[in-house]
Amino acid sequence: MKRITYPLAISVALLLVYGAIRLFEPGLIGDELGKYLLAVPLLGVSVALVHAISYFLFDVVFRRRKGREAPALLRVLLSIILYSVFLLLIYRLVLEKPLGGFGIVATSTVVSVIIGLALQDTLGNFFAGLSIHTEQPFHILDAIRIGHMIGRVEAVTWRTTTVRTNDNTTVIFPNSKVAREELEVFRFNNLNRRILRVPAPYRIPPQKAITLIRETVSSIPNVAIEKTPVVRIGDFGESSITYEILYWVKDYMWIHDIDAAIRQHIWYIYRRNDIEIPFPTRHVLLEHQEPAATHEETDYDRVIDSVEIFAPLSAEEKDAVARSAVKSVYAPGELILRRGDPGDSMFIIYRGNVEVRLPSHDGHAQQVAELKPGSFFGEMALLTGEPRTADVISLSEVETLEIRKGVLQQLLENNAELAEALSHKITERQSRLDEYARAMPEEEKRVKAQTIRRRIQRFFGLD
Ligand code: CMP
Repeated sequence: MKRITYPLAISVALLLVYGAIRLFEPGLIGDELGKYLLAVPLLGVSVALVHAISYFLFDVVFRRRKGREAPALLRVLLSIILYSVFLLLIYRLVLEKPLGGFGIVATSTVVSVIIGLALQDTLGNFFAGLSIHTEQPFHILDAIRIGHMIGRVEAVTWRTTTVRTNDNTTVIFPNSKVAREELEVFRFNNLNRRILRVPAPYRIPPQKAITLIRETVSSIPNVAIEKTPVVRIGDFGESSITYEILYWVKDYMWIHDIDAAIRQHIWYIYRRNDIEIPFPTRHVLLEHQEPAATHEETDYDRVIDSVEIFAPLSAEEKDAVARSAVKSVYAPGELILRRGDPGDSMFIIYRGNVEVRLPSHDGHAQQVAELKPGSFFGEMALLTGEPRTADVISLSEVETLEIRKGVLQQLLENNAELAEALSHKITERQSRLDEYARAMPEEEKRVKAQTIRRRIQRFFGLD
C-alpha cells in the first residue's frame, strides 16, 4: 500500500504547488518549464497507478481465483506495459512531443534500467527456463546430476526445475543455476552405463573371479537385459584385485539398489566358493631378541668350547678367554692377515669362513686351506715369533675372536697339553706349507731362501 500512497501523496503535493504557482504567479514559470514541472507529479501518479493496478489484479483477483501467489513474471510484464503506456502518454500529451526515434529510445532505456536493476534474478531464471524448454536438455523422469546431487526431474517451470532425490526429498533449483551448472543427464529408458568396483583376493585367478562376478550381476533385477554386463580388472590394490563391473540400467535412479544387491549376491557367491572378502592386511615380522650381553657370552663360550686345542682348559679359563677376546667383523674378501707381516695374536673364527692363501709361481694365489667356525689361525707367528706365513682372507662376512699374546701365555703356563696341541698343529700346517713350497719352481725357492737368509743375518746383526 505504501507503494501506492507515498508516490500519490508526493505527486498531489507537487500538483498543488504547481497549481498554486500557475494561479497566483503565472509569469514565474514559462510554458516549456511548466510542462516539465507538470510531468514530474504525473510520473509519480503513474507509479502509484501501476502499483494499484498490479495490486488489484494479482493480490486481489488472482489470489482469490487461484488461491496462490501470482507469478512474478506476470507482475513484471504488466508493469513494463503500464509504465510504457503512461510514459508515452506523458511524453505525447503533457510534453507535447512527437513520438519520434529519440522518444522511443528514451522510453525503452528507462524501461530497460528498471527491468535490469529490479528483476535481474527473475529474468535470469525466466530466460534460463525458456532455454530449457526450447533446448530440452532433459525431460521429466530423466535423472540428472547437478553438482553432487542426483535426482529425478519432476517438473520444469519458467522459473525452477524440481528434482526428487533417492531420499525422497524435493530439491528445487532456480533455472539460472541449472543453466549455469555442469549437468549430467541419465535419460529414462536409455541404456545408462554404471561402474561398480568390487574386490577379490589375489589368490583367485582373474578368470574365475570374472566368471563368478558376471554370473552374479546378470541375475539382479533392473539391470538392463539388452546388454551383457562386463567384468574386468580395474586395479591391483594393496590387499586385493579390484574388479570393475560394467552394467547398464534404464532407470538410473535404481543404481544404489542394484549396487547393494550385487554386493549382497557377491557375499554369498564368495562364501559358496570359499573366497574370502579381502580386507587390508599387513605382515608384521616380530624378532625376539635376548638381552644382548647374555646372548654374546653364551655364544662365544660355545665357540671356544668347540675349539679342539682348548679341550684341556677349565671352564673358568675358557670363560676368561671369551671375555678377554677382541671381537671383530670383516667384510667378505677382506685381507685379515698378510703374509710376511709381524703378528702377536691368534684368531678364533666365530662366524663365516676364511681362506689361507699363498702366492703361486704364476702370480695367482693358491688356496692352502679353508677354515670354518671353531677353527683358529695366526697361531704360527704368535708362537714362533716369525712373520705371518700366509695370507688369510675372509670368504664371507667373518666374525673373529682375537686372543692376545698375554692371554695365551698365561694359558700355556698352566696347560702343558695346550702347548703340545698347538705345536702339533703348527707342525702339521708348516709341513703342508712346505709341500706347497716344494712345488715352487727352483727360481722362486732360491729367492725365498735368500730372503730367509737375509732375515737371519739381519736378526743376528751379521750384515
Ligand atoms: P700365521 O703364520 O701367524 O699367519 C698365517 C696363518 O695361516 C698361520 O699363522 C696359520 O694359522 C694359517 N695357516 C698356515 N698354513 C696353514 C695350513 N696349511 N692349514 C691351515 N692354516 C694354515
